[in-house]
Amino acid sequence: MCGIVGYVGPAEPSTRPLDVVLEGLARLEYRGYDSAGVALVTEGGLAWAKRSGKLTNLTTALAEHPLPPATAGIGHTRWATHGGPTDANAHPHVSADGKLALIHNGIIENFRELRQELEADGVPFASETDTEVAAHLVARAFDQTGDLTEAMRQVATRLDGAFTLLAVHASLPQTVVGARRNSPLVVGRGDGENFMGSDVSAFISHTRHALELGQDQIVTITPDSIEVIDTEGNTVTPREYDVDWDASTAVKGGFATFMDKEIHDQPKAVADTLLGRTDDRGFLQLDELRIEESVLRSVDKIIVVACGTAAYAGHVAKYAIEHWCRIPVEVELAHEFRYRDAVVSEKTLVVAITQSGETMDTLQAVRHAREQGSKVLAIVNTYGSTIARESDAVLYTHAGPEVAVASTKAFLAQITACYLLGLYLAQLRGNKYVDEIAGYLDELGAIPEKVQRILDNADHIREVAREMQDTTSVLFLGRHVGYPVAMEGALKLKELAYIHAEGFAAGELKHGPIALIAEGQPVFIVTPTPRRPELHQKVVSNIQEVRARGARTLVIAEEGDHDVEPYADIIFRIPQAPTLMLPLLMVVPLQIFACELASAKGLDVDQPRNLAKSVTVE
Ligand code: M6R
Repeated sequence: MCGIVGYVGPAEPSTRPLDVVLEGLARLEYRGYDSAGVALVTEGGLAWAKRSGKLTNLTTALAEHPLPPATAGIGHTRWATHGGPTDANAHPHVSADGKLALIHNGIIENFRELRQELEADGVPFASETDTEVAAHLVARAFDQTGDLTEAMRQVATRLDGAFTLLAVHASLPQTVVGARRNSPLVVGRGDGENFMGSDVSAFISHTRHALELGQDQIVTITPDSIEVIDTEGNTVTPREYDVDWDASTAVKGGFATFMDKEIHDQPKAVADTLLGRTDDRGFLQLDELRIEESVLRSVDKIIVVACGTAAYAGHVAKYAIEHWCRIPVEVELAHEFRYRDAVVSEKTLVVAITQSGETMDTLQAVRHAREQGSKVLAIVNTYGSTIARESDAVLYTHAGPEVAVASTKAFLAQITACYLLGLYLAQLRGNKYVDEIAGYLDELGAIPEKVQRILDNADHIREVAREMQDTTSVLFLGRHVGYPVAMEGALKLKELAYIHAEGFAAGELKHGPIALIAEGQPVFIVTPTPRRPELHQKVVSNIQEVRARGARTLVIAEEGDHDVEPYADIIFRIPQAPTLMLPLLMVVPLQIFACELASAKGLDVDQPRNLAKSVTVE
């Protein structure tokens, strides 16, 4: 879950390596912010600095004690796993002779035995991390071989677990070597300079030409070359691609926070995900479909695997896909799917939903499903990510880079993509006529403008949020597609505002949760459209039931829904839409509410405590 950056440039030492690395770390800080550090190759040998806490602690330290000009550099921003967030545990880790520096993202599972082996040989350790063993091992292998690529290759074969490693050596002024297994690493091709990063945002302001690394590969960059081998030493030709967004997409663009900006990006995220999906005959098409149509026609069950917000998008999708395709859909947290004895077969389509494409729990679920013979279709936001590469088919969400740790625009884009998948399957299997599908696509096409209307009229939501900043517990109720929205609303409030929040199926209320209602308890109720009276009337009754017991009711309801008015203390209005489209609207006031309340409490909404954007460890 850490962020890593590598840079190698011209032979004349300059401040560029440090500038590039720090800029990359700023863009990657969403991946972890327990500590940050850099190491540079300078004329006088290696120079490094590291500090616990956010990147600003490091930049302040560097302003007080500048590092010399350099020709290459590596940088790291950490989400702590082994060892607390201290200066000593911050990366880079440096060999005992001070000549090699190494950074790491992932977990080295066999680090204890490796550490014992090194300590028995008298190697002194300065930290509690698993990473430090790799620094000492690569340094020793380099001393024996005089070749940093070979040293990295040898060590990579000894490590168990997940890792991206980057290393520089004092004797190699223009070389950075990386290795990856189960953790992300991309290479950026520049002009007389090259880059590495956990994702392309690390170097996007310098180049949009990227190279995708596969599993168990070692990459060596100099200013003019990029060489990749596998762990057997065979040369590999990585796939090159051009990133289709630029640096301006990954900056706040006038908003105070990334969270606020990304909430406002949502109309575009939905519109871009829908763009160019039909051919001249009006038939839907997916992005990288490596599953035969006959296989998709014979699918008899879909299992969605995902975590967190992505899993809630899957829950929403279940309602639509079952309705449109008449295929049973199960939604399972990826980590639970992998370790239970799930019944899957060649006729099961596993749909993995992930913004980052790197979530380890989801990746392992994908591998597990494929081992059982199931086909996997991934709904992914990050182009070329591990899950996209390892799946049989990919449907990309085009939400653009999501930087704030709490997911917002990815959620809307994931629901949109799931709906496209559902309609695609319905088309392929003959459940829907082309004109029916066109009708649903029109409904989806109307969503961006409706989301924009909510965003343009959000002052009331913000006002109520600020007024509620001392709240300690909030409940969320929803029925049908409103149920996953209620859970997502609760998750947003937990992770952004550190408030106890729970989402319930409204029908479950009388089976227990109603006992939580005491005088003044705030309860959000996500109300179905009155055009589905069988759902709507029951939720209106639920509003009355909690209000009768003293709850303060905050009701999300369609424009023109007057039935809720007598029982709502507060109403947040959303535009009218068909039932299956409503989640794309209902969630927006809940996102704005959580973001505003957390900001009113003075919290960092982009980087909430204890979290990291990409959960790349199990
Ligand atoms: O990158 P992914 O979509 O696989 O991430 C899944 C979850 O970790 C993520 O949605 C998480 O729940 C967010 N913090 C939610 O805001």
